[in-house]
Amino acid sequence: MRVRLLIAATLALGAGAAMAQVMNHDLPVQKIMAAETNPGALAFWAGGNDPPEDESKAEANARWDEAVKGAQLLQTSGEALKAHSRGVAWNAFSDLMIATGKEGEAAAKARDAEKAFEVGGRVYDSCNGCHKTYIPPPPRQPPTP
Ligand code: HEC
Repeated sequence: MRVRLLIAATLALGAGAAMAQVMNHDLPVQKIMAAETNPGALAFWAGGNDPPEDESKAEANARWDEAVKGAQLLQTSGEALKAHSRGVAWNAFSDLMIATGKEGEAAAKARDAEKAFEVGGRVYDSCNGCHKTYIPPPPRQPPTP
């Protein structure tokens, strides 16, 4: 069962909620995430996850086409992130996203669900690694006035 990435996708979306607590947003980065990286990742992960029940051949083809585009978005948005670099680790996580995006594009073009699932786990490592390194945890208690 390839359901692990559904959980990963949920966690990634959850980043949006945690993000609401960040006081000073990095607007260009936030925009790249919301418009390219996150939808790209979700579309790519849908390639590696178990297909929806009763999916027709045409629907499966459309899902894989979106997965290919999603993997391409991981690569282009990874390059865009590097234009907003905050240091060595930032670039390394961006490069991991670009490299796994490339591998993912090949897997999605080959309609290889097992491979897409495996690559998808490493895509998630790039998201999670960068978020853990660069997004401050929400405050434990509200600041006193
Ligand atoms: C190189 C660093 C980096 C990588 C890689 C990265 N992110 Fe982010 N992400 C950030 C930062 C920084 C923010 C917070 C931006 C802000 O609001 O200031 C963020 C915010 C987000 C948000 C919240 C956007 C919003 O609307 O507030 C989502 C969702 C998200 N990332 C998803 C992902 C996913 C999915 C991946 C992997 C496929 C990923 N990110 C990879 C740095 C990264």
